[in-house]
Amino acid sequence: MSRERYIHSLLTLSHLLICIFNSLVAANGDTQKDLQEFYIVFLRDQAVDDVESIHQTHINVLSNLKGSELDAEESLVHSYSRNFNAFAAKLHEHEANKLSSMEGVLSVFRNRYHKLHTTKSWDFIGLPMTARRKLKIESNTIVGLLDTGITPESESFADNGFGPPPAKWKGSCGHFANFSGCNNKLIGAKYFKLDGNEDPSDILSPIDVDGHGTHTSSTLAGNLVPGASLFGLAKGTARGAVPSARVAAYKVCWASSGCSDMDILAGFDAAINDGIDVISISIGVLPLWGDYVTDSIAVGAFHAMRKGIITVASAGNDGPRKATVANNAPWIFTVAASGIDRQFRSNVVLGSGKTVSGIGVNIFDPKPKLYPLVGGDAVAKNSASPDDARYCSQESMDPHKVKGKLVLCKLGMWGLESVVKGFGGIGAIIATEEYLDNAQIFMAPATAVNTTISDTIGEYINTTTSPSAVIYKSQEVKIPAPFIASFSSRGPNPWSNHLLKPDIAAPGIDILASYTPMKSLTGLKGDTIHSKFTLMSGTSMSCPHVAGVAAYVKSFHPNWSPAAIKSAIMTTGNKTSNIFLSS
Ligand SMILES: *[C@@H]1O[C@H](CO)[C@@H](O)[C@H](O)[C@H]1NC(C)=O
Ligand SMILES: *[C@@H]1O[C@H](CO)[C@@H](O)[C@H](O)[C@H]1NC(C)=O
Ligand SMILES: *[C@@H]1O[C@H](CO)[C@@H](O)[C@H](O)[C@H]1NC(C)=O
Ligand SMILES: *[C@@H]1O[C@H](CO)[C@@H](O)[C@H](O)[C@H]1NC(C)=O
Repeated sequence: MSRERYIHSLLTLSHLLICIFNSLVAANGDTQKDLQEFYIVFLRDQAVDDVESIHQTHINVLSNLKGSELDAEESLVHSYSRNFNAFAAKLHEHEANKLSSMEGVLSVFRNRYHKLHTTKSWDFIGLPMTARRKLKIESNTIVGLLDTGITPESESFADNGFGPPPAKWKGSCGHFANFSGCNNKLIGAKYFKLDGNEDPSDILSPIDVDGHGTHTSSTLAGNLVPGASLFGLAKGTARGAVPSARVAAYKVCWASSGCSDMDILAGFDAAINDGIDVISISIGVLPLWGDYVTDSIAVGAFHAMRKGIITVASAGNDGPRKATVANNAPWIFTVAASGIDRQFRSNVVLGSGKTVSGIGVNIFDPKPKLYPLVGGDAVAKNSASPDDARYCSQESMDPHKVKGKLVLCKLGMWGLESVVKGFGGIGAIIATEEYLDNAQIFMAPATAVNTTISDTIGEYINTTTSPSAVIYKSQEVKIPAPFIASFSSRGPNPWSNHLLKPDIAAPGIDILASYTPMKSLTGLKGDTIHSKFTLMSGTSMSCPHVAGVAAYVKSFHPNWSPAAIKSAIMTTGNKTSNIFLSS
């Protein structure tokens, strides 16, 4: 994979379902004795309602293994007692191996850490604000999201006009650190952090410090919020598919460590028990790591299905490579990402008078003038090679040379406009061959251009005495749609060749939805801009669209099984295309 792609994935964590390993994190301690890791152990017997006796069963299994009840107590991290008979424990590898061959043990797998993989989009796919609704049932519908938590203050989750939670609701909420509590719209909020490790970048509470969970939840079931936009872009009424439905947040993803299997399973266990109707999970496990038995999302979704709850999950952002699709179990509704008929573009005017077009969200209005324009090689530190300097990295540029200038850079790492700005520069024109179908948000004046255009600009710089340019604020343009996003993970299904995956595609490019006040727009150094709404791209964004449609269907057919809902949606798809329409 090219350098660009690798770094893009890392820097857009919050947008993208990325399935990177992090297994080493689980090992803590450096002495031989401490070399224990978290494992998840499933037992053959069904779970029973008696929490005490299940807990005792788990202690007995561990006592047999460890030789003492005291060691067993120390080893046990969590008993999953409600919907499946399983536990999480700290074990040595040889103990895990031994356990897996013991009678009554179904499976043993190591806990791993995973990463996270509107308005207009609903109109585009044909669910207008005026769609017929069964309001009474819709308001009895509860959607649950396993994500980074939620922002209770967001207007998307205000409870004006909502009655008390439906009678079937068995969940809970509370006042936690920096979390003001729930209401009759946001009826549940819990968090799971079973490894007990502190996360300095997060808060031990259901509060969403990242923005991802707030965004997905409002896409699924947010209230109608008129006048939503990102500094005037994507203006409209923000809304979810089922604005009258209730929302429950299960925080299983943490800023530094990601989303662990133990926490994901605990989230499923709670959601199933609380009386959720639809589960939406925009998290992915790299397919080559899992199978139907050791993938926590597959296992959790299986138990949800047994209780009649549909799980909708993102397909992953590892496209366009083949066989990268995640969440492949047949009982999961797996969602790819497509584009809608809107794109955000900026005009760049060169000193020669030529205008070229870049992509991305640039919310800055320039002064009515041209700025000096240079290539990254021209602002290199004396010690840096001009080739490296073309990527405009922190290490390669000389701040004195950057000051007051626009810089033409190759994409090495998203966020390079923050480095240019930090050095006193004006902004950046970023050349890239990839990711030109979704908009990056820039914290300083910037836009992304393809290599044809960057060559034109490079030639202009090379042949002009005092090259100059200006980047204008982004505008919306209409484009042909739909199309599959470049980043959307592709089939074939690496787990079962005969089972097609992903199941469906939904809008996942430049989706406007609610955001957290706890993070700046880009999260980059020097960014002080905040917004109640922001644009995000990823199968993380397409997943709650389909979860919302599933909840909508369920509001008309409350007794339909997960398979019936999935089949109804997949077999009634109609062409939603503007490609053949003249505008
Ligand atoms: C969380 O709450 C504490 C105590 O009220 C406060 O000091 C802290 O600044 C808050 N954290 C954030 C990120 O807002
Ligand atoms: C770059 O964009 C221009 C204008 O949209 C287009 O004509 C050209 O083919 C593109 N070049 C590449 C390499 O995609
Ligand atoms: C501009 O000049 C540099 C250095 O002389 C060269 O490496 C580069 O290829 C030139 N760019 C274009 C587009 O001609
Ligand atoms: C599909 O969409 C077209 C155009 O919107 C509409 O005329 C047609 O009735 C739809 N077909 C079905 C089966 O819903």
